[in-house]
Amino acid sequence: MTDARPPGGSRRGFFRTCLATATLVASNPSLLARAAPVRHYNRVLLVDEKGEPIRAQALTGGGAYIFHYPHVTTPCFLLDIGRPLAGGNALKTGDGEAYEWQGGAGPGASVVAFSAICAHKLSYPTRTLSFLNYRAESTPFMNGELAEEERKQIIYCCSERSVYDPARGAEVLGGPARQPLAAIELEYEAQTGRLYAVGTRGGELYEEFFRRFGFKLALDHGIEDVRALAEERAEAVAHERYSAQPVTC
Ligand code: FES
Repeated sequence: MTDARPPGGSRRGFFRTCLATATLVASNPSLLARAAPVRHYNRVLLVDEKGEPIRAQALTGGGAYIFHYPHVTTPCFLLDIGRPLAGGNALKTGDGEAYEWQGGAGPGASVVAFSAICAHKLSYPTRTLSFLNYRAESTPFMNGELAEEERKQIIYCCSERSVYDPARGAEVLGGPARQPLAAIELEYEAQTGRLYAVGTRGGELYEEFFRRFGFKLALDHGIEDVRALAEERAEAVAHERYSAQPVTC
């Protein structure tokens, strides 16, 4: 959980990251709790279906995009919530490990990304259908106190009705999910408007995901090594084009 070494990243890059983090923490010890849980993977440019860099400014439609990171088979949501998200809220993994969410990226600090693998029974968007969906519109659900609630901008899993709040690090709002969706660390390059995925924060479920779905993932993605890490570029596709049939509830 706390091993920040990139499984497939370069050793030199890893040591550079460690040195930079140590320097930052030494100058501001209060950052320690916040910085520690980040896992750094490859720095991957997010591109559109034509291979052009996704501009943070272009993510304004209110819909969700799907890209794969940190592994080429592990889906993520990319969202623009449309307002600045400071982050810093305290979250916990299913193992009880505390971490803080980093907040939004991009020019308006409004762009966020999360693993699109439900933290209950690992439902995830496929090309054919998706039980796990971002709901920009006002949507009723049952909250943690088993009271009815209605909210816009939630991530809703219609397998067993887990609900997450992407404006607060994908914390669990209701349902049986054991932890927030893992956050994908984004880096925004202000000069170019480009977005990069650089790591994860929070509880990963990738090994369980590979154990359970490895065979299907290999078939669906046409690859042998389902654990292969995304490198250089990851294509972000509008969710309504990625999954033929969203299942909403
Ligand atoms: S798999 Fe998502 S709620 Fe069960």
